Amino acid sequence: MTLFNLGSINVDKVYRVSHLPGPGETLAATGFQQGLGGKGANMSVAAARAAARITHIGAVGADGRWAVERMMEYGVDTRHIAVTETATGHAIICVDDAGENSIVLFPGANRIISDAMIGQALSQASPGDTLIMQNETNGQVTAARMARDLGLRVAYAAAPFEASAVQEVLGLIDLLVLNEVEATQLETETGSNLKDLGVSDIIVTLGSKGCRWLSDEGVMHFDAIPVTPVDTTGAGDTFTGYLVAGLDRKMPMAQAIGLATRAAALMVTRHGTADVIPDLKEIQDQTFG
Ligand code: RIB
Ligand code: NA
Repeated sequence: MTLFNLGSINVDKVYRVSHLPGPGETLAATGFQQGLGGKGANMSVAAARAAARITHIGAVGADGRWAVERMMEYGVDTRHIAVTETATGHAIICVDDAGENSIVLFPGANRIISDAMIGQALSQASPGDTLIMQNETNGQVTAARMARDLGLRVAYAAAPFEASAVQEVLGLIDLLVLNEVEATQLETETGSNLKDLGVSDIIVTLGSKGCRWLSDEGVMHFDAIPVTPVDTTGAGDTFTGYLVAGLDRKMPMAQAIGLATRAAALMVTRHGTADVIPDLKEIQDQTFG
């Protein structure tokens, strides 16, 4: 089967800092790296690393051609990424000594994906394929409707979180991934329990405490793998990319979560985003302490 990802592509500018800067503070970084990122691109690369067939739907500017080439090298089908006259999206990322981050996002070309582009890409899909989306592009509702009409499964990672954006796609998605704080916020906004939102599978991520899977069969908890974090950036994206890749390969949910958990744990021990996402072999070889 094929995965289709309507997703952002960013140039990540990553600064290493002793602590995250506060209001009015000027802080000298101790390191700088530029690389491929964006929650969408990270998920596509993760899925490709997990040996899935994945087509990315997105947009960059001429300044982002290298990013598209890199995605292609990592095994992502990039034929449905437009090169536009709008600048490529970028992210200013600070990572502190504890591996925590803060991110400022400039969406750029990620917000000008046309319905026609989405339609063209999805016309290549077959029933049983999966569409994945996040909240860093435009077009999620259009894409989800088209995908549903074509018999695709739809997965949505609610990142960066906006309750209103989730509400727009509720009823069009089969899998929702969000964290615990966001889950509570969504319950408040909708006035209903997560399990009553009409989404068949919901994964609530709990950081170092693992995750919870909510479905018709009830609630199941999965532990994280204890690691010493150096950079948590992109770990959530890696988790989701591996998760959908596993499900696409018909793994049972619990097994796909297990694989995604291992991928995310390894990712947390690495500086960087898309460029350092582990492949299946690295995950198998990893003994984790
Ligand atoms: O989740 C990490 C990602 O968030 C980074 O790669 C950055 O581009 C932002 O989209
Ligand atoms: Na990382």
